[in-house]
Amino acid sequence: MTLDSINALDRAGFMAKLGHLFEHSPWVAEETWSQRPFRDVEQLHAALCATMRAASRERQLALIVAHPDLAGRLAQQKKLTQESTREQAGAGLDALSDAELAEFQRINAEYRERFGFPFIICARLNAKDAILRAMQTRLPNSPEQEFATALAEIEKIAKLRLLDVVNP
Ligand code: GUN
Repeated sequence: MTLDSINALDRAGFMAKLGHLFEHSPWVAEETWSQRPFRDVEQLHAALCATMRAASRERQLALIVAHPDLAGRLAQQKKLTQESTREQAGAGLDALSDAELAEFQRINAEYRERFGFPFIICARLNAKDAILRAMQTRLPNSPEQEFATALAEIEKIAKLRLLDVVNP
């Protein structure tokens, strides 16, 4: 789609096209719609991110928690959204050895235990080895740092999802 056609959408149409950019959180697109027209994809992305940033901490936490674990139970059961399935496959997470899968599940559990939310990294920008390394290096971080990093990674995930919809 072109940006012009995005700018011409009513609220329902906008949500139908962009409601999935933030995982299970269509409110981000819904609350950004009224700011159209957007000048370019970058400005649209920035406006969506500003909506996410302006939300309460509670809502931001719910957005983070809405993400599936990488190589987690939902992935094993093939119950991911279409975008998540593609993102995890892009990182090579759909083809792990048993040992790698066990390692992911161990660190996922440790991370959740420590922070109370899932480990978030933009899977389309990182292959499985880089993801495992990042999990290990981020585990000692403070909850504040990890909350901030999770939101920053969600912005990258949303940008790539947006570029799948709108041709810049
Ligand atoms: N959980 C952690 N990283 C990601 C990601 O890039 N995409 C999705 N859908 N879930 C994640």
